[in-house]
Amino acid sequence: MSEKATLEINGEKYEFPIVKGTENEVAIDIKTLRSATGGVITIDPGYKNTGSCESAITFLDGEKGILRYRGYSIEELADKADFLEVAYLLIFGELPSQEELDKFHSDIKENSVVDDDVKKILDAFPKSAHPMGVLSSLTAALTAFNPSSVDVESEEDMYNSIVRIMGKFPVLVSWAMRKKHGLPLEYGDDNLGYVENVLRMMFKNPNREYEQNPILIDALDKLLILHADHEQNCSTSTVRITGSSHAGLFVSLASGISALWGPLHGGANQAVLEMLEAIKEDGGDTKKYMAKAKDKEDPFRLMGFGHRVYKNFDPRARIIKKAADEVLGDLGVEDPILDIAKGLEKEALEDQYFVDRKLYPNVDFYSGIIYRAMGIPVEMFTVMFALGRLPGWIAQWREMRLRKEPIGRPRQLYIGENYRPFSPIEKR
Ligand code: CMC
Repeated sequence: MSEKATLEINGEKYEFPIVKGTENEVAIDIKTLRSATGGVITIDPGYKNTGSCESAITFLDGEKGILRYRGYSIEELADKADFLEVAYLLIFGELPSQEELDKFHSDIKENSVVDDDVKKILDAFPKSAHPMGVLSSLTAALTAFNPSSVDVESEEDMYNSIVRIMGKFPVLVSWAMRKKHGLPLEYGDDNLGYVENVLRMMFKNPNREYEQNPILIDALDKLLILHADHEQNCSTSTVRITGSSHAGLFVSLASGISALWGPLHGGANQAVLEMLEAIKEDGGDTKKYMAKAKDKEDPFRLMGFGHRVYKNFDPRARIIKKAADEVLGDLGVEDPILDIAKGLEKEALEDQYFVDRKLYPNVDFYSGIIYRAMGIPVEMFTVMFALGRLPGWIAQWREMRLRKEPIGRPRQLYIGENYRPFSPIEKR
């Protein structure tokens, strides 16, 4: 017999089915709540208890610190797969055969030229523009240059839009950075792997060939994999909800990029580095900043700490912390802020405030230190997160469309004025 949950409102009982996920997660299905009760809704700001969809893409268990893409553990994927394989896995559900991966890559390369007129839009931005704003705008603008990517009905239409954006997005990422640094805009090289190509497009100097460094390729591959999906976080929910109105893929992604920009989400990686720099400039007094983070009168938060779902540890942070040591070691970079970060982590993990609230370093705490060692400018950190999250957003958008999910439209509890008659301006 199927399990049920009973809800009693003013003595009246209502039953709702209990549904279970493949990892035995339990949810109460309240689809009929309003109609059965004559208008009662649930209220849950920040959606802390609300499942917005059923999804087969990513599983995470915040208590146990588990993260899996399509059933594969993040530890194994970060160690053994490359980013394009992971992108294919997330989007299409299975690890690709060599043939499938080659076709995917070749279709992406076929679509990796951005209309030259996009440069005119880029030109109009001031150099001071944050690359996340530039990336979001240019990603939305791509719709105008690829109008057929909007009305997607068949899986083939979807595939075409997907390989287009997988091809063009790294070009926009590199342009957003090169514009800021006054460098001529680059296109990729079809002979290179996806991640190698990203590095070349970002860093190629106009007067010399770009020399690939395997340490950088491996480090970026790992970082992109670790960021590739994270189920229904703020930006992914934004992509799904924008796409649920059947707006095109590119604008759905542009709205996700905007959501990612904020310091409580992807923008945290830039904020962490700026915070660590500020602590260093201030004499390295970590205790002072710990006290500020705990002071309820002070808006300061320890950036890179805490997570809505992980209440034990963030498995991505563990992998990144180890990678930070390795990459800095391999590159021969000594960065004093790595020591400050480790000191801060140690203090926080032993501090009652952080222990009580289950606040641990998250994915963004160490990633910026690796990006910096790789020569990536701080304002590009969140852009790199977006590049990694691209396949996750695409996978979630595709799943939402294939499952024919209804348009996203939450309810509200109105707490404003009751009806009052209009008063003419001379009487106000
Ligand atoms: N520093 C100090 N106190 C904190 C922090 C922090 N980083 N994070 C949470 N708290 C406190 C918060 O003040 C609250 O205390 P109290 O119960 O006394 O009022 C308690 O911990 C619970 O916090 P919350 O804000 O209710 O938790 P949330 O689930 O709504 O927020 C979060 C999660 C990630 C937004 C938050 O922990 C935060 O702002 N962290 C810093 C920003 C950051 O690193 N973001 C990256 C997240 S991971 C990557 C990504 O998603 O993009």
